[in-house]
Amino acid sequence: MSINDEWWKKSVVYQIYPRSFMDSNGDGIGDIRGIIEKLDYLKLLGVDVIWLSPVYDSPNDDNGYDIRNYQAIMNEFGAMADFDQMLTEVHNRGMKLVMDLVVNHTSDEHAWFVESKKSKDNPYRDFYFWRKGKEGQEPNNWGSVFGGSAWQYDETTDEYYLHLFSKKQPDLNWENPKLRKEVYNMMRFWLDKGIDGFRMDVINMISKNPNLPDGDKSEGQLYGDGGRYFMNGPRIHEFLQEMNQEVLSKYPVMTVGEMPGATPEDAVLYTDPERKEVNMIFTFEHMDIDSGPGGKWNLKSLDLVDLKENLTKWQTSLCNKGWNSLYWNNHDQPRIVSRFGDDGQYREKSAKLLAACLHFMQGTPYIYQGEEIGMTNVKFTLLEDYRDIETINMYNERKALGYAHEDIMNSIYVKSRDNARTPMQWDSTKNAGFTTGTPWIKINPRYKEINAKAALENPQSIFYFYQKLIQLRKEMDIITEGDFELLLKDHPQLFVYERKLNDERVLVVCNFSGDEVTVEDEAVSTKLKKDHILLGNYETKGTNVLRPYEVIVLKNS
Ligand code: NOJ
Repeated sequence: MSINDEWWKKSVVYQIYPRSFMDSNGDGIGDIRGIIEKLDYLKLLGVDVIWLSPVYDSPNDDNGYDIRNYQAIMNEFGAMADFDQMLTEVHNRGMKLVMDLVVNHTSDEHAWFVESKKSKDNPYRDFYFWRKGKEGQEPNNWGSVFGGSAWQYDETTDEYYLHLFSKKQPDLNWENPKLRKEVYNMMRFWLDKGIDGFRMDVINMISKNPNLPDGDKSEGQLYGDGGRYFMNGPRIHEFLQEMNQEVLSKYPVMTVGEMPGATPEDAVLYTDPERKEVNMIFTFEHMDIDSGPGGKWNLKSLDLVDLKENLTKWQTSLCNKGWNSLYWNNHDQPRIVSRFGDDGQYREKSAKLLAACLHFMQGTPYIYQGEEIGMTNVKFTLLEDYRDIETINMYNERKALGYAHEDIMNSIYVKSRDNARTPMQWDSTKNAGFTTGTPWIKINPRYKEINAKAALENPQSIFYFYQKLIQLRKEMDIITEGDFELLLKDHPQLFVYERKLNDERVLVVCNFSGDEVTVEDEAVSTKLKKDHILLGNYETKGTNVLRPYEVIVLKNS
């Protein structure tokens, strides 16, 4: 079997965050009918698959990642009939639809949890983690990802329940076979409708060490880090293999597991086709490169050498053993052009550079809404304008610890998830054409300059550059199949790599800086002058001087 027999290996995925994509009814919130209106836009871009962030019924403590009913659509987004129509329309255009599967936790308003809370002998009690307190304290010292303890006391039964995210997101207990069966039934419900796969939310966190031991705690920290007891936990491979055997293997679908803390070695175990778990995973390693030891809010500037080393490790470790997903952005990450590029003078150049740098690697690329037009981070000077629970909790926690307002806001400007969640900028009219009402979160003020309409009218736009990259992936097997080799590994400004397949070579040369950089290396410099230019972000000419944020891709024949 050739590597390209699996359709998802030649595919490019586009992520829609429905709340911020397109509002069709003027309530300020994106919806399913809005998505339908924009399917032709996605078809024009050329993407094969749409990954839809949660559209299920939810009280929205974490924008839909807290699900109240897995088999109903959130009122604000429409009805099941709208969903069915969307699925048909996606398929009619030759695209596929992948849904978010959020089964590490539910909402505390989910019927299972409502039951579970009622009494210690309720049949649903064991669907969640309930524990007695220890000497009047929480059952262990774990902190929640969104701040505070990972335990919430409930007086009905005088016990605590575990929530690794917000207290409205209680963790499901995968040790319970009845719970697993319910989850598999729910997955079948969606697959039987004809969806084409799942993106699995924090799926490597579903197996916890059942003893729930205290986590390591360093000086001055309020909570312990229980990560090693719940990330890549003791039964994770067994659970994923069971899910595969019971459900996924029966459908021609793709799966991608979101896996914080997974190393390339873990990724091989999760994605080796022989092991029948998932097709690919989302790593966090390259997204942690600009974080200090205290976590994402402790800012650190990008060291390109670290980034190159990390991406190379993933490229080479998974080659012929598993499969990579390739991404710079999603609804949890700041905008890449503001993060690793330059969102000022070189916004367009650096957005194209980042796109090419990623899309010539091996794996399945993911584009997050707005990335294809170079959308940027946002600075809301008032905390009240932020909506993200993680951002708001962090602000309050740091404020209480004595951090200065300005310092906290600086971290928010750089790292808040709301950077990715401002509405899609469709045109230069009021509210960027996203809504006729009041948007649920403010629009990025740069919409007059950065919007889809302007991009579509300009043949040199970032949009058409992405379109070209998607097309090349379809035409050139070397992109999916070739070996990967990093060149000039210690160069602080240049990211240069080569792909090789039989006699074919593709060289990708990226200048990650606002300066002109001369390529001193003989071999690379000769290729720059002689090889055939496949793609670039400047009017290209064959020289060994790279202009600011220049990317140039060359082919040997
Ligand atoms: C990862 C999701 O991408 C994020 O948005 C969410 O807050 C957490 N998982 C919890 O579901």
